[in-house]
Amino acid sequence: MSDRPMKRILVTGTAGQIGSELVMMLRDMYGNDNVVAGINRSPPSDKVRDSGPLEVININNKRDLYDLVDKYDIDTIYNMAAILSAVGEKKPMLAWDVNMNGFHNILECAREKELVRVLNPSSIAAFGPETPRDNTPQETVLKPRTMYGVTKVAGELLGDYYFRRFGVDVRGLRYPGIISSETLPGGGTTDYAVAIYYEAIQNKKYECFVKEDTILPMMYMPDALKALIDLAKAPLEDLVHHCDFNVGSMSFSVKELADAIRVHIPELEVTYEPDFRQEIADSWPMSIDDTAAREEWGWSPSHDITSMTKDMIEKLSKTLL
Ligand SMILES: NC(=O)c1ccc[n+]([C@@H]2O[C@H](COP(=O)([O-])OP(=O)(O)OC[C@H]3O[C@@H](n4cnc5c(N)ncnc54)[C@H](O)[C@@H]3O)[C@@H](O)[C@H]2O)c1
Repeated sequence: MSDRPMKRILVTGTAGQIGSELVMMLRDMYGNDNVVAGINRSPPSDKVRDSGPLEVININNKRDLYDLVDKYDIDTIYNMAAILSAVGEKKPMLAWDVNMNGFHNILECAREKELVRVLNPSSIAAFGPETPRDNTPQETVLKPRTMYGVTKVAGELLGDYYFRRFGVDVRGLRYPGIISSETLPGGGTTDYAVAIYYEAIQNKKYECFVKEDTILPMMYMPDALKALIDLAKAPLEDLVHHCDFNVGSMSFSVKELADAIRVHIPELEVTYEPDFRQEIADSWPMSIDDTAAREEWGWSPSHDITSMTKDMIEKLSKTLL
């Protein structure tokens, strides 16, 4: 299946934090008309709307999904549609429905229509409190306590099953918290690491919903896009893993992040009001062992907290001030 040349790509969830930037990068790489942006209820950015084909697609509607794939002769799907951790704890059944039943529709579509490839991100939310938190191994305990995490583990297993049982080329990686300046995150536990930049620039103060010493792994958007695209392009025969690659980049506490921002905005004041997301953060890794991704498809991130912070502040200052 995966030897066919690529024709057309569908990216679902393109009003979201990652999908909105991924679709633009794929359009640059493969041509605007070859990359269909799928949106659900949220509106797309002007850039996404104006640069290529745009379609409303709810991945829970199997018939619509199949029709869309036929209409554009799609052969590769990047599934960026999901319900993330914090929203998922408020609406667990919705998280199950979108992240499992919606993803299953995509896998069935790929199997029945013999698509070339499916990309579906997993998350560090696949881990839980019993997992070693420092340099979390590739193969380890997967007992998450959130519905989001449950769906991410099950999604990894389901994707691997579809590869082994049906030969569908499904690939995925366990993203850490993603930091970006274009589209606000959609309700995850690491959203504070984006919000702090917006608040620092606009108001010079930020009230954080996790404690100052909370350390989580993070990644800057350019690296997040590179990771997914590099994984998508890797020769199938080089892959031992498929849907569950650990990918690391940087790890820091909220205090370290605030200090990095204060290099540019010294007046920044941060206060702390931990809420239910603290418990989620405490159940996730602090750092990631990504040896498998490095060995199997050459993963290597480019940004650290210093280069990311400089870039975030430059970009956001242009749009917010
Ligand atoms: N952003 C992060 O920090 C992060 C970290 C780890 C993993 N991930 C994973 O990356 C992927 C993309 O995440 P994101 O941050 O861009 O999410 P997001 O919440 O910003 O966007 C998700 C999009 O999916 C859409 N959506 C929801 N239900 C849908 C449905 N039934 N059909 C079609 N679209 C639907 C929403 O409208 C939204 O635009 C997800 O699989 C997520 O689990 C993200």
